[in-house]
Amino acid sequence: MSGKTYPVPADWAKNALIDADTYEEMYARSVNDPDGFWAEQAKRLDWIKEPTIIKNTSFDPVSIKWFEDGELNVAYNCIDRHLKDSGDRVAFHWEPDHPDQPGQTITYTQLHERVCRFANVLKSLGVKKGDRVTIYLPMIPEITYAMLACARIGAAHSVVFAGFSPEALAGRINDCDSTVVITADEGRRGGKTVPLKKNVDDAMPHALGVEKVLVVEHTGADITMKGGRDVWWHEAAAGVDDFCECEPMNAEDPLFILYTSGSTGQPKGVVHTSGGYLTYINFAHRAVFNYEDGDIFWCGADLGWITGHSFTLYAPLSNGATSVMFEGVPNFPDASRFWQIIDKYEVNQFYTAPTAIRALMGAGDEYVTKTSRKSLKLLGTAGEPINPEAWEWYHKVVGEERCPIVDTWWQTETGGCMLTPLPGAHGLKPGAATAPFFGIKPQLVDNDGNVLEGAAEGNLCILDSWPAQARTIYGDHQRFVDTYFTTYKGKYFTSDGCKRDEDGAYWITGRVDDVLNVSGHRMGTAEVESALVAHDKVSEAAVVGYPHDIKGQGIYVYVTLMAGNEPSDDLLKELRTWVRKEIGPIATPDLIQFAPDLPKTRSGKIMRRILRKIAEDEFSNLGDISTLADPSVVEKLIDNRQNRS
Ligand code: WT7
Repeated sequence: MSGKTYPVPADWAKNALIDADTYEEMYARSVNDPDGFWAEQAKRLDWIKEPTIIKNTSFDPVSIKWFEDGELNVAYNCIDRHLKDSGDRVAFHWEPDHPDQPGQTITYTQLHERVCRFANVLKSLGVKKGDRVTIYLPMIPEITYAMLACARIGAAHSVVFAGFSPEALAGRINDCDSTVVITADEGRRGGKTVPLKKNVDDAMPHALGVEKVLVVEHTGADITMKGGRDVWWHEAAAGVDDFCECEPMNAEDPLFILYTSGSTGQPKGVVHTSGGYLTYINFAHRAVFNYEDGDIFWCGADLGWITGHSFTLYAPLSNGATSVMFEGVPNFPDASRFWQIIDKYEVNQFYTAPTAIRALMGAGDEYVTKTSRKSLKLLGTAGEPINPEAWEWYHKVVGEERCPIVDTWWQTETGGCMLTPLPGAHGLKPGAATAPFFGIKPQLVDNDGNVLEGAAEGNLCILDSWPAQARTIYGDHQRFVDTYFTTYKGKYFTSDGCKRDEDGAYWITGRVDDVLNVSGHRMGTAEVESALVAHDKVSEAAVVGYPHDIKGQGIYVYVTLMAGNEPSDDLLKELRTWVRKEIGPIATPDLIQFAPDLPKTRSGKIMRRILRKIAEDEFSNLGDISTLADPSVVEKLIDNRQNRS
């Protein structure tokens, strides 16, 4: 947490949208007069009815409303309002998985036409304002049409990452009662195909409420279409009008549901609404990335995650930006791909995850240095803590020491960036998420809730609401209250650990609950455990994270077998495949240890602290194990540990 600080370069301090003094002054106003501050920011959007009530929020009891008497349409703000002056501007460059495949360039006028058609097709399938539509699409242009079409007609979309399994998809379809699912024949990633339509077919017996499946033709793979249920997008699109009116929406009407993992139970459907969400991320895109008109912006995040929702789609389009959307992966065909794409489209701001940076750093500098990257002005990261070595490499080799790095800390639930340096305002400390964004009041507390002042390490809470905050968990408001506002009553608890240094800079240390962050993907240990115990040879499973060079955290699994089963390499493989099938490839266990017994207290509670230490290969200091029912269990686990450095 020590190390170097890179001061704000003079030209950034001079030319940036927000310099240090402006930040101080604006931040003070944002927390002292949130009504005045956010009323002003809301003017960034086009409202059908301007809001007169700005902030109406409480964390005890929990009730969060922003701009509650305002009316707008998010798709209008992302498309229509740019048509008059900038219809020919490129909304996004779509870059295919393989550079030899044809790409696409989509102007705002073209985007308008395709979104309108998509909206009319959805209407023809019976989708109405207030409905939920599940989108299970790869990173192809149609996923943006589908999301914006939902916004246009006032249906909430629920995008399910195209790497999730049929089982995971079915659970998410059922949870929000979607009657329409949008998918493609196949997806492409890194030269491989993903059988999306087949996955949907496999999910259908478990998702009986689905009436229509809209299918986008992408690879042309041979798939089965079920009569009466499955509809080709291109056929339906040909038969509808290319104009569709925007539905007037209340600022507090849901825009989308996005499922994310918690420490217990099934993934929860985080609900984001329209006016506050768009105001906040529109502003954050300008302030954090110093986005200026004419810049080419690229956020590499998949639309299946919140970073994709906010910064691949809604924020740049609402600012009339030209951005890049990429179907593939960083290292295909080789580790130069990101940098080649940056050169091809002359990208000015590039935003990616630490896991990608670490993987590309491992491939060697020459993949970077053989490209130009002269268009780059700023770099960003999000999703997990970035280790200082990877930060330094990104700064030095990729950004040639001229591009500030914004390390943005935020969550699915926060909608937009919460802690981040601003490029013209804050010196950069490799690994620090640095300073609160406007309107954000961070606080550190100890495990008993005592407030920690000055330089300290504790649990990160946020004291007051911000416009892009999630409003509820779909169908379970009590779970929302219990998960976020009950541990420290009246405060939003982030579940992240955090340090504040002598200069007041914030450093996220990682989750303090049973949530893993594997390659920037958030995963509940409970989800992986319940997938494992669903296997008929497994009686008990405990899942913990351990440090992994590329993924940040790896998945370490302890499995107790049902009587009569013996550990074997075949069974190891079977269990790995099983978890992939139950959840998806991102949940594949890295290390599996067969454990005849798990360390438990006398009341039967698994002592995860001990399992974490053994998985980390750090068992010299296991702490107090005297409360274990059978302390000898620990010796056996250590003897058999799978992560030996
Ligand atoms: C968790 C949220 C950035 C939004 C996409 C992830 C971790 C996120 C950082 C960062 C350290 C970070 C936290 C957080 N995280 N950004 N810059 N530095 N940790 O959203 O999937 O909801 O995950 O990601 O642990 O709680 P998510």
